[in-house]
Amino acid sequence: MSGKRAAFFQSWTRLCAGGIALVVVLFLIIPRYARPSLVLSPQMDDALAQQLGHPTFPEVLEYERKLPQHVEPGLLESWGDRPRYLFFKDASWGSGWNNVFQEQLLNTHLAYLSHRAYVFPPYIARDHPPFPDKLEDGTRHWLRIPMNAFVSGPTGGGPLSANGTDSLMRRAVSEEWWDTVCPKEEVVVVRLHDAENALMVDDKTDGAEVFVRWANKLREMSAPCVSVEGAPVFQYLFIGSHRILSVWPTYSVAPTLKYFAWSPLIAQALSHNFHILSPAAVPTSLSPSGAPSPSPLNNSFASFRPYQPSTPPIAGLLGLHVRRGDFEAHCVRLVDAGWEYNAWNLLGTPAYANNDSVWPALPDYLDVRVAEGETRHEAAMRHCWPSREAMVQRVRDVRAGAGPNAASRQVQAKALNRIYISTDASRAFILELTADLQAEGWEVFSSFDLELNMEEKAVAQAVDMSVLVAAEEFVGVGFSSLTSNVVQLRLASGREARTIHFW
Ligand SMILES: *[C@@H]1O[C@H](CO)[C@@H](O)[C@H](O)[C@H]1NC(C)=O
Ligand SMILES: *[C@@H]1O[C@H](CO)[C@@H](O)[C@H](O)[C@H]1NC(C)=O
Ligand SMILES: *[C@@H]1O[C@H](CO)[C@@H](O)[C@H](O)[C@H]1NC(C)=O
Repeated sequence: MSGKRAAFFQSWTRLCAGGIALVVVLFLIIPRYARPSLVLSPQMDDALAQQLGHPTFPEVLEYERKLPQHVEPGLLESWGDRPRYLFFKDASWGSGWNNVFQEQLLNTHLAYLSHRAYVFPPYIARDHPPFPDKLEDGTRHWLRIPMNAFVSGPTGGGPLSANGTDSLMRRAVSEEWWDTVCPKEEVVVVRLHDAENALMVDDKTDGAEVFVRWANKLREMSAPCVSVEGAPVFQYLFIGSHRILSVWPTYSVAPTLKYFAWSPLIAQALSHNFHILSPAAVPTSLSPSGAPSPSPLNNSFASFRPYQPSTPPIAGLLGLHVRRGDFEAHCVRLVDAGWEYNAWNLLGTPAYANNDSVWPALPDYLDVRVAEGETRHEAAMRHCWPSREAMVQRVRDVRAGAGPNAASRQVQAKALNRIYISTDASRAFILELTADLQAEGWEVFSSFDLELNMEEKAVAQAVDMSVLVAAEEFVGVGFSSLTSNVVQLRLASGREARTIHFW
């Protein structure tokens, strides 16, 4: 072979190698799936909502659209992976927000265990609407509240890590985004009842086992777009019962609760009302990050960040949940049907959670030891519908570190001096309760004292809950799902079990 030919052969080989490398590089950087372009239509004005004077949350909806995972799936892919989604088409949606929310947190956890992105829906205020919603023709126009008006942690598309290094492919997406990236023909439907039969899950299966079986199934499915249909995976009868408790050790340390965050809207409401919660300066976790708003009630959502309750508690504050309203009749129904405390409120019940290293040792549980001349009904009603006098006594005991289980739980007298009452009671009742508590030296504020704009009013219940989670100590209603959600968030945020009490 002549020198010339060898040189030609060499450069030809180089050229070929270069060409192959170029093809490989292009193959890696060009998205593998040719998809229609993902342009969301402009947000539509809800004329009926405007007619009713309802808030329409344009800033919150914009915030959701701008979540970093809401980009062309090709841009998130590496090595041909595509984000895999989990949509709960028939999750509960229109009952009380706390029941819906309890289920949403568990659905987020199941999506996490399944290595799938949770698809979050808006909340539709059908029960207990915060504003009148009747149109002139007599029909109702339900208020729609975006998820990120309530929460912006993993359930609302927030990070599943402390430092934001988690994969965007696993972060929750909005239902609007799911509709865009998962056209009908690509959706693989899992029928709930067929799946439960195949997984041998029934109304006796232990909670942790239910999660393991479902997660294995959903993880092994290769389809990117999976929708569970027919009914909620976690129905309220399951969530409300002690069967759920076995999932606590794994659920409580997983991202859904560990990186839980309230929405910027709630941070804003807390920031503007902080003076009634504490004499201290507003903590930086609740301070606006951008330019200060001209008026405290002017909506400046965008300058607030999601608020993680794992920050230190508000010193000296005791949060009370005083549930009245329809609970008078509801308590009678619950108690007469033999119901126990709701979900996580059962963590103190010795029969279900008897190992302190597995379950947090809540000091209180439903104790219906009947006193002389008292029926079981009356004994249970004392916990569900306590009298004003009983509440004042309970608060006295909590401050003194006394109470029925004090000796065994090493509680101590506390430096508590201020009370926040989260309530749906009448103003007259709260005025009387406030006067009674002031007479014992407390500074007392309640839901009636919060100054909220229309958007914040729509999520006022969650604003209250964020206070109850932030408070140093808490007394709640064992039968209530609001209390139960406060309990799980307090525990997952690092508040000690002994700071949680029930009437
Ligand atoms: C982020 O957190 C994860 C898990 O705690 C850790 O493994 C990783 O090194 C952290 N990354 C950075 C850049 O801090
Ligand atoms: C809120 O602030 C913006 C400018 O920051 C202003 O244009 C708007 O009128 C204000 N709205 C109210 C209700 O004060
Ligand atoms: C409590 O649970 C832990 C962890 O599973 C276990 O090691 C321990 O033996 C249990 N204690 C009792 C008293 O059952």
